Amino acid sequence: MDSILVTGNGPLNGQIPIAGAKNACLTLMPATLLSEEPLTLTNAPRLSDIKTMTALLQSLGAEVSSLQDGQVLAMSSHDLTSQTADYEIVRKMRASNLVLGPLLARFGQAVVSLPGGCAIGARPMDLHVEGLEALGAEIELKDGYLHANAPGGLKGAVHEMRFASVGATENIVMAATLAKGTTVLKNAAREPEIVDLVECLRKMGAQISGEGTSTIEIQGVDRLHGATHQVVTDRIELGTYMLAPAMCGGEVELLGGRMALVESFAAKLDAAGVQVEETPKGLKVARKNGRVNAVDVVTEPFPGFPTDLQAQMMALMCTAEGTSVLEERIFENRFMHAPELVRMGANIEVHGGTATVTGVERLKGAPVMATDLRASVSLILAGMAAEGETTVSRVYHLDRGYEHVVRKLEGVGAKIERIKGQ
Ligand code: EPZ
Repeated sequence: MDSILVTGNGPLNGQIPIAGAKNACLTLMPATLLSEEPLTLTNAPRLSDIKTMTALLQSLGAEVSSLQDGQVLAMSSHDLTSQTADYEIVRKMRASNLVLGPLLARFGQAVVSLPGGCAIGARPMDLHVEGLEALGAEIELKDGYLHANAPGGLKGAVHEMRFASVGATENIVMAATLAKGTTVLKNAAREPEIVDLVECLRKMGAQISGEGTSTIEIQGVDRLHGATHQVVTDRIELGTYMLAPAMCGGEVELLGGRMALVESFAAKLDAAGVQVEETPKGLKVARKNGRVNAVDVVTEPFPGFPTDLQAQMMALMCTAEGTSVLEERIFENRFMHAPELVRMGANIEVHGGTATVTGVERLKGAPVMATDLRASVSLILAGMAAEGETTVSRVYHLDRGYEHVVRKLEGVGAKIERIKGQ
């Protein structure tokens, strides 16, 4: 397994291009199952999760061609051969469950393995099931697989979700596009990735309104046609790299970044004393010398502070002036980066869903281990600001969500290299 060696190397300067959003692409790709005509995605990120979703769609019989070095995905699901998403693929990536709604809508049946837990939590699918059952699906759990059927097709309904789940919103909205009648989805998630999905579905002929609010209305249509859609900028990669100058000092411009994607996060950086300004090409982030101020964070569904930036924000708070309280309200076990940061000299106390961080002057490099996608990048950020060398192991987690991370950070002056594993 590869590792990454990073050495504290002072202020950063330059530009980092931000890629298309992993979490938008992972729901846009299954949307191809809704139509027998081709769907082409541009600005797709080059990530292992995208390769996993590609393999899943191909296992169903869809054609997926990765063009222009992976930035264009040309897909067609005209002749599907299976409606079963196998455990071997789903267990590697929970987002595989996003084929459930489209398969059910187009074919009236789907067999999708339950993803099983992952490092950050149990991650059940009850909200997906409840929503699809509201549309008339019959779903039962057998041998670890959800067996879903809608023999007479799905029917529109009014359904209120108990929690604003991102994935459940995506599955239900995709399913409702081909249901008979109108669906009103209440307490829907409002993430930009859902807005991007709806914009793509609309290009395919779907009749949808309310995306980005808590109530999304979908008028079912008989069929959807093909389309070409550009994947929205990745707000989590954007927020992650905004923290690089915040932690190391200097000034970095994040190309493609827009304030609307990271409003609540940028507000926290501003309160911490980090300058964030919108430029014609993106977002410019600067921190003059001196330590940032400690700020408190509570993770919430969009537009609240994103759980996917909690680990990275904790890394910044480790050397802030004062004490910061971070409350993780979305996942039950998303502080695994904390003990690794403590190995670097951080002062963090975790009690249940709350971590209290008392800032220290500077972290010290140490060997640390990545446990999940966002934890791994928070350790790299910490290593960039720390004194001495940090080796982050198990960086396959990184490859799931950050394309060319070494190249992008080297480009603004970080001292970082990837060490090939044995
Ligand atoms: C999406 O996961 C993202 N993944 C996650 O990003 C992100 O952390 C999460 O949304 C929250 O923003 C993709 O978009 C591919 P949820 P998802 O359903 O859809 C519970 C990353 O790092 N829940 O909003 O799985 C669940 O256990 C990943 O890129 C149920 O209880 O998130 C969790 O505690 C990590 N029942 C909470 O809701 C359900 O049926 C939020 O889950 C579904 C979810």
